[in-house]
Order: sequence, then structure tokens, then C-alpha cells
Amino acid sequence: MGNLKRRDFLKTTGAALAATAAQPLLRVKEALPPLHAAPPVRQPIVIASGNGLRATEKAMQLLMQRSDALDAVVAGVNIIEDDPDDITVGYGGLPNEDGVVELDSSVMHGPSHRAGAVAALQKIKNPSLVARTVMERSDHVLLVGKGALRFARAHGFQEMNLLTEKSRKIWLEWKEAMSTKDDWLQPHSLDDRSVGAQLREYARHYGTINCDALDLQGNLSGVTTTSGLAFKIAGRVGDSPIIGAGLYVDNEVGAAGSTGRGESNLVNCSSVIVVEAMRAGKSPEEACLAACRRIVDNLKEARLKNDDGTPAFNVNFYAINTKGEYGGAAIWSGSKFALHDGKENRLLECAYLYKKK
Ligand code: GLY
Repeated sequence: MGNLKRRDFLKTTGAALAATAAQPLLRVKEALPPLHAAPPVRQPIVIASGNGLRATEKAMQLLMQRSDALDAVVAGVNIIEDDPDDITVGYGGLPNEDGVVELDSSVMHGPSHRAGAVAALQKIKNPSLVARTVMERSDHVLLVGKGALRFARAHGFQEMNLLTEKSRKIWLEWKEAMSTKDDWLQPHSLDDRSVGAQLREYARHYGTINCDALDLQGNLSGVTTTSGLAFKIAGRVGDSPIIGAGLYVDNEVGAAGSTGRGESNLVNCSSVIVVEAMRAGKSPEEACLAACRRIVDNLKEARLKNDDGTPAFNVNFYAINTKGEYGGAAIWSGSKFALHDGKENRLLECAYLYKKK
């Protein structure tokens, strides 16, 4: 921009610049101390759901380079969002019942206690980056559907077809097997009486990756991102983009996130329960178990219970606190979480309430 043009530009945008100067946006990077600031006081730590080993690896790499925890966890989950072979998140995520991929995500930045989220977002493979843009470039926390897409477009996010051939075929198989509920049928012979009878036997995919980190400055942040419940009703929003349900961070206490049946977290504000249990003195693992217990205690619907009264679904929690302690727990045994403590990146067993038979 030449001098004259620059002067014109400044003149015409003077009011806007003055407003910006009066109320500057607090960008994540501005929340970081300068590089010559006090030496690190914390050993960084990153936790993620069991599908997040590559995310924790990437996040730790960035944390060791003094990245803010939010930069680190978002870069970590972007790897999974970009991966067409992960059918639970981002590109290649399983679609809704109409065969359309709809993504949910939230971010929460501990030091500024700000958050951003998007729900039922189509065509953009990195909902976590759009969620972060909502946090940094709007006065809102949650944008949904077409409005979220328009906001993403305005910020230069590229639209693409998120449905891979692999996910389309899994969706088509599901659609065809739903013959007790609709008119789609699997290939069958005239005397095949079983077609469509397997509706109840389909395991539902809730997918999702949650990743939370403590950085070198002792600050916490987290992100949760998902394609949500596979074959959901179009427009269904789970817990992942809801601050307090699928993600919560309090920079003075800890960070927590969840995967599994989102509806149970929506009616229990579960991630807040985890953080508040840590505030009350519980370890991260105990706090995660407390959230599992709360879901079970509040479960009244028979249709969601097994014959013995136990929940017929699973929910998993992951948590870290400001001391760098960590833990994961689930309602049912068998879940794992990814943990990078700066020395080793590994999968660990979640604690649980009930052992699978
Ligand atoms: N927890 C992910 C979902 O229910 O969408």
C-alpha cells in the first residue's frame, strides 16, 4: 500500500480503528508472556480421548516450544479432523440420517476464561478452528448451522464435501438395515424374514475427540470436536459444543472434557461437575468418576437401561488439574485415554463404575 493510499485507508477507517484501540481484542497469543519472561514453572501435560495419541504428540511438541495450551490442543485435534480414516471427527466423520456430515466443536481458553463453539456446521473440516474464531472474532460463544457456515465463509474457511466414500458406504449400510423403521432395504431374497430386524443391535457411534493441556506457564485450555452421533436426526446437537457439558476449563482449578453419549452430559452439565469436584479437592480421576456417578444417579428412563438397571450406554471423561495431575474415567470398563507427560506418549486405562461382562 503506497503512502497516499495508506493515508486514505487510515482516514476512512479511522473510526473503526479508534474503536478497536479502545477495546482491543484479546487474542490468545497476546495472553502469552513475552519470550524473555520468567522461566517455566510447570511441566506441561496433555490428555485426550483414546483416539487422540497423535493429538497429544503434536500438542506436547508445541507446548515444549512455549505454545499456549489452546494453540497446542487445537493443532493436535486438527490432525484427527483432517484424517479421512477417522469416521468420528471432521473430514470423513459419519453423517446424519440424511447422509450429510454435521460437525460440533468447542474451545475454552483458561487464562482469558473465554470460549467459542459451533454446532451442526456443514462443509468445513476443522470446526475447532471455526469455534476458536468465534471466540476471538465475535462477541458470541456459540454459532449454529447456516449462521456458523456463513461466519466460517466470512473468515475464509474453505468449503468441501466432508462425506468420504468410506463413510457414505457405512451410512448406506445403516440406512438399508433400518427397514423396520423406513422403506430402505438391504439386498434380500423373497423368503428373508430377518431383514431390518437388527435395528436394536446397531452400536451407535458417538465418536469425538477431547484434548486438554497445561502449558509451561501453568495455563489450561481444552477443545472438543466431533461429527456427533452417527446417523443422528439432522440438526441434532450433542454435548461437544456446549460449554459445561462436553468441555469446561477453569484456569484456577482444571480442565475436563468428555466423549460418549452427549445427551447424558447435556442433562447433567457433566464437565462442570468434573471441574467443580476437582475444586472441592478430588483428584482428576475421582472427579471423572463423580460425573459418571451423577449420570447414573439421574438416569430415570428404562429405555436407556439394561435389564439389571445399569446404563445401556457409555460416557467417558478426561481431566487435568493445575498441578499437572490427570485422570480418566468411564461408566463402563474398557475405555482408554491418551496422555503425554513430556516424557512418554501413551494410552492408559480409564477408571470405571461397571466392569463389562
Ligand atoms: N459426545 C459426542 C456427542 O454426543 O455428540
